[in-house]
Amino acid sequence: MFQAVTKTLSVASTTYVCRGILLGIRHYCKKTPTKLRVSQALSGADLGANVKVQGWVRSVRPQKANVFLHVNDGSSLQPLQVVAGAELNDPLLTFGSAVEVTGSLKKSPHKKQPVELEADQITVIGECNPVDFPFKIKERHGLEYIRQFPHLRCRTNAFSSLLRIRSEATTAVHSYFRENDFVQIHTPIITSNDCEGAGELFQVEPSGPEIVEDEYFFSVPAFLTVSGQLHLEVISGAFSRVYTFGPTFRAENSQSRRHLAEFYMVEAEISFTESIEDLTKVMEDMFKSATEHVLAHCVEDVDLFHKHVTPGHRDTVDAMMKSSFPVITYTEAVDILNRSSEKFTFPTDWGCDLKTEHEKYLVKHCGNAPVFVTDYPYDLKPFYARDNQDHPERTAAAVDLLVPGVGELCGGSLREERLDLLSARLEEAGLEDTYSWYLDLRRFGSVPHGGFGLGFERYLQCILGVDNIKDVIPFPRFSHSCLL
Ligand code: 4AD
Repeated sequence: MFQAVTKTLSVASTTYVCRGILLGIRHYCKKTPTKLRVSQALSGADLGANVKVQGWVRSVRPQKANVFLHVNDGSSLQPLQVVAGAELNDPLLTFGSAVEVTGSLKKSPHKKQPVELEADQITVIGECNPVDFPFKIKERHGLEYIRQFPHLRCRTNAFSSLLRIRSEATTAVHSYFRENDFVQIHTPIITSNDCEGAGELFQVEPSGPEIVEDEYFFSVPAFLTVSGQLHLEVISGAFSRVYTFGPTFRAENSQSRRHLAEFYMVEAEISFTESIEDLTKVMEDMFKSATEHVLAHCVEDVDLFHKHVTPGHRDTVDAMMKSSFPVITYTEAVDILNRSSEKFTFPTDWGCDLKTEHEKYLVKHCGNAPVFVTDYPYDLKPFYARDNQDHPERTAAAVDLLVPGVGELCGGSLREERLDLLSARLEEAGLEDTYSWYLDLRRFGSVPHGGFGLGFERYLQCILGVDNIKDVIPFPRFSHSCLL
């Protein structure tokens, strides 16, 4: 059992706490230290003030007359330097321990930090045995190493930077849609449809003995969603621009570096589309707008990745931001693959699914920049994709965005809005009854529409250059692993 330890080390002459209750109102006298986050303290706005900072020790340097600590609370990559007299040093002040420090904020004589906290009281709130703690002071641990400790890796610089970037990128995605008049829709997590028709569903049922059909909790088989698309299509019948951003689940038995069983997807659905360009424009704009936001708001965190974790990747990101994403058709893509001297493991005949190796080659061929591939074989795409009615090679108006290092980042299509064509396709698949409500959308005020989904973790991999998708999500879920 974890035992909380609270030990206070203070300079005898100092006392700040003078709060009292007067007529039921709690008063704090002027000397009560102001509680600050590390990022606030570093901003320099409170120079000279008596402050209290709480966080975790990232380094301890005892010297003859002083002890120097670096304290971090997750609010910024940069820690706050604490300077204390040697009398405040204590063996419990170790790398990883949790502390509360009060003192005054001073301008730092060192160039590296603008501000330091001159401590007159240090309380060790939670001790940390540095021998047992899996991360060691001064060591730069690789992403693969820290992945073994999903319960502790947020204490490392790299993973805490990742979490701040992820949070800011989430804000950036929402901002993009808000600025472009999209309405956010909370599509359900539990659903009775298999949007992608790929059968990669997790079924939802209460635990217990096997359930017979008429005893299903929901009276029908229910699953964790593989995509919010069909629900977005419902709402796009009344709101011409909608989006959703939430967890998505796929029972893919894959250990790959770009697949998870639970991932976050950003999906948009747009009504009154005229061509696939209406979709590629939103995909490219959203990608660039979110990336610009992240680069501007997470300068130090992104630098940590681009300088120390994935050196050289910044050039790729800058090139992506400058490029105007080219568009090629699937047929052109297959031609490019067949004309190359590269030996691919998987076939490249017209009609084949593009695999990661093909996607990566196409990205390189297009100057290591994002590329849209459009008009895929009709038979490769789910029932909802719009038939291009072309011959002899029948294609659907579908589009994927392929990006450096990752391959497929977005998948989308125009949707089949024509009732006769859609019902024929559903009938062929024996799904006409299941999707009678979906056919209704084509019966009542149907309009040309389309949309796409962007894998949020793959987006983070793409802008940070992170090779393994498990390193960009707090708690990765994949086949044979559901830790914590
Ligand atoms: O291409 P997908 O399967 O498209 C759809 O689900 C559409 N219904 C979306 C839509 O049109 N509204 O998935 C979209 C994106 C992929 O391009 C990929 O980036 C990501 O979701 N993705 C995954 N990311 C991590 N792990 C997995 N297992 C993923 N499967 C798809």
